Amino acid sequence: FTLSAMTGLATSVSAASLTVGFSQIGSESGWRAAETTVTKQEAEKRGIDLKFADAQQKQENQIKAIRGFIAQGVDAILIAPVVATGWDAVLKEAKEENIPVILLDREIESPKDLYLTAVTSDQVHEGKVAGDWLVKDIGSKDCKVVELQGTTGSSPAINRKKGFEEAIKAASNIKIVRSQTGDFTRTKGKEVMESFIKAEGGGKDICAVYAHNDDMAVGAIQAIKEAGLKPGTDIKIVSIDAVPDIFQAMAKGEANATVELTPNMAGPAFDALEAYLKDKKEPPKWIQTESKLFTANDDPMKVYESKKGLGY
Ligand code: AHR
Repeated sequence: FTLSAMTGLATSVSAASLTVGFSQIGSESGWRAAETTVTKQEAEKRGIDLKFADAQQKQENQIKAIRGFIAQGVDAILIAPVVATGWDAVLKEAKEENIPVILLDREIESPKDLYLTAVTSDQVHEGKVAGDWLVKDIGSKDCKVVELQGTTGSSPAINRKKGFEEAIKAASNIKIVRSQTGDFTRTKGKEVMESFIKAEGGGKDICAVYAHNDDMAVGAIQAIKEAGLKPGTDIKIVSIDAVPDIFQAMAKGEANATVELTPNMAGPAFDALEAYLKDKKEPPKWIQTESKLFTANDDPMKVYESKKGLGY
């Protein structure tokens, strides 16, 4: 039994009967892989039949997958949108078939009536938390920052940049001297960091790395070590996600701070979906997840242990 696309009515339905399509971006980071695991676990726990599609980082693959879900007549669609623009047409198609769409972890620029709700963090705030940490840690010392941006055109890359810039605006001693995308991956993070090191006096002129996610930070740490410098000491490392690997780096003194992003976006998304389909309860347009700062002073190995089983 699936909700009738013909009547378009959210008639009484139990979670056990739901079929949900999930268009995932890919597996570019440890955080992304954990989100996929948690989403599958949450669906299984609730007896939801989850149709999973990995888009390999391509919006066109996501659009194709979404059209496939619509054709199958799923009850709802989850989308982790790789970029912020270009969704209007396919979302209109889902709306015409009365299939509610929920966005996971990234925002889009489409009209809000084209989706039911978005479960995301406040990504501007995440960047601000990272920047505030750096401003406090550096004090009055002059500091050249290099920035590893996330995927170009994605909402976390846009917003995390904005928040960080806001935080350092008043600190004239802190300047972003280089900024480039590392596509949220470890390999690209390392590669771009190597070019930054070359361009900035072999790395000696760099005071801090701001990476839009931990995976790129881990890649940068590797590049810094290979250049004969000490990450965490010679060059401070601040990033976002709070994946287990960054806590291992912190425990070794090689990373300094991270802002936590929960990989459990599906829990709140399915709660909202079930309430909507069963009780016709409209969720708020934005379900915000928490953004907590962790530093090397927070017993990193204990945090590392506590992350086990959370999709990691
Ligand atoms: O949209 C969330 C971001 O996407 C995560 O911070 C990053 O690791 C992922 O790839």
